[in-house]
Amino acid sequence: MTHIVVLGSTNMDLVAYVEKAPQRGETATGREFRTIPGGKGANQAVAAARAGATVSVIGAVGNDAFGTRLRSTLELSGVNTDHLRTTEGPSGTAHIVVDDEGGNAIVVIPGANGTVDHLAPGDEGLIAAADALLLQLEIPLPAVVAGARTARAHGVRTVLTPAPAQPLPPELLAATDLLVPNEHEAAALTGITDPQGAATALLDRVPAVVVTLGAAGSLYAARGSEPLSVPAPRVTAVDSTGAGDTFVGALAVALGEERPMPEALAWAATAAALSVQREGASASMPYRSEIEARFTV
Ligand code: RIB
Ligand code: NA
Repeated sequence: MTHIVVLGSTNMDLVAYVEKAPQRGETATGREFRTIPGGKGANQAVAAARAGATVSVIGAVGNDAFGTRLRSTLELSGVNTDHLRTTEGPSGTAHIVVDDEGGNAIVVIPGANGTVDHLAPGDEGLIAAADALLLQLEIPLPAVVAGARTARAHGVRTVLTPAPAQPLPPELLAATDLLVPNEHEAAALTGITDPQGAATALLDRVPAVVVTLGAAGSLYAARGSEPLSVPAPRVTAVDSTGAGDTFVGALAVALGEERPMPEALAWAATAAALSVQREGASASMPYRSEIEARFTV
């Protein structure tokens, strides 16, 4: 089995479902409120575990009720939480408004995730034994850089989701094997709004890039090979929160199984398409059997 380690955030998502998100100064009456486990790190871990990998997560939750539930939800999906620390204070929360088109706006309060600014004893050994390390940007950058460097030193594939968008230090890019921005993050990193142009420009900094395009699928670019565009299955979205994380988690599993890149991207797009048809981030992520049932090459 593919062994994946995720170094990243764990948030409780506090989700308001409303027809149309309010503008500044407006109040809107919504339909439903739910608390659903999320956080980009935890989401990628759940997606990869459900897609069929052995997964461990490195991060932190608070010593509150959310922390207890976040840990147990990860475990229920089969994610190992031995390296998920419990710290004094609140867990991370994400305050999310989801509209009737399945789109969202999110405010993240880092809480315990803010304490993950270094690797703890034992984390290096865990990373060294993995097939891939998945990274995002919801924990302090020094830990992300340390994780990427550790993985690189042990020949472990590094997959970085540069979200939330922010400037990336050169030492992080230098230790990144595969960068997976969405189209907005790709534009923010390069100043180029055309995803194909942005992907090509990013190849100056990393060897391979996948730009996720939501319903339009994804674009793959790598040094020395022809760019590839892979469509996504057509579905009706009810909640796209965590769709990008589902894509990355499933992609890492497919690559760990040595599926060719076009097939791996289509498989990941199938997983993401399944997730957008259900509410919530981690709660909506498909199991391997569901992906296989829906997958067509
Ligand atoms: O990528 C989606 C995630 O971003 C949500 O689960 C939320 O926690 C935010 O961090
Ligand atoms: Na969803």
